[in-house]
Amino acid sequence: MRVVLQTTWNTTAAWRAELLRQAPDLDVRVWPEIGDPAEIDAVLCWQPPPDLFAGMRNLRLIQILGAGVDGLLRAHPRLPPVPVARLVDPVMSQRMAEYCLYATLRFHRQFDLYERQLAQAKWERHQHPDPAEIGVGVMGLGAIGSAVVRLLRQLGYNVAAWTRSPHPEAEVPVFVGEEGLPAFLARTRILICLLPLTPETASILDRRLFEQLPRGSWLVNAARGEHLVVPHLLAALETGRLEGAMLDVFAHEPLPKSSPLWRHPKVFVTPHAAGITNPRTATAVIVAQLRRLERGEPLAHLVDPARGY
Ligand code: GLV
Repeated sequence: MRVVLQTTWNTTAAWRAELLRQAPDLDVRVWPEIGDPAEIDAVLCWQPPPDLFAGMRNLRLIQILGAGVDGLLRAHPRLPPVPVARLVDPVMSQRMAEYCLYATLRFHRQFDLYERQLAQAKWERHQHPDPAEIGVGVMGLGAIGSAVVRLLRQLGYNVAAWTRSPHPEAEVPVFVGEEGLPAFLARTRILICLLPLTPETASILDRRLFEQLPRGSWLVNAARGEHLVVPHLLAALETGRLEGAMLDVFAHEPLPKSSPLWRHPKVFVTPHAAGITNPRTATAVIVAQLRRLERGEPLAHLVDPARGY
């Protein structure tokens, strides 16, 4: 099987080595040195350039090397008519869940406040409620959202989810669609955004939404920067509607040094590091997918480009 590997990361060589270690029979061609494009069966890509698929007339699979496909769909509004799959790596979902757990503990146990006290050598203890009294609201119940829900629930948090479509199998209350949003927000103290980025979800974290949260809530965004309207976040922090935010993703990455988010005392910024794709574990998932393609079996984690995830 002939595959093209394209990433914007500085770890492309490591990816290639890992692919060949786990599947020595693969012919892995690193973009742009791909030889005859008509020979290519599958493309493994992250933030692909516009001409990536040119001449690939025998292409059978586009496999994204990350969880979100928004970058691909934005760069290629008219994709070749082949299956598109996102990466669902349980190890990555676990890393994301750890990030959200850290954020939840940070706010629930007030480590953000203790950090501020530390700067003043101030010895002052604060009571905190039981986890069961903290409403955690997870937006998005895909592979990552489900892992987050599971972990936080195990620790006793009062978790609910908000999604576009009903999830009867979910272990927690699920609020659905526009109608479910007000009740979901009203019971949420820590709001965690893990939504796919689509035209419907862009700028969803805005003033209107913040106003429906209880006063003194916290925001965690580990999805995409475009979900958040930054001036509305700053205003909500100013009025006390929001007590703090932990942000991993930004509309412009790297986040410019001039961004007020870096210096805001109630904002904790991380550099899109919540769930960095791990070439070793992700390659195992990808090789399993390529084997399915080889055997003509149904492919896993397919995306509906029209829906956007
Ligand atoms: C990273 O943000 C991803 O989509 O995997």
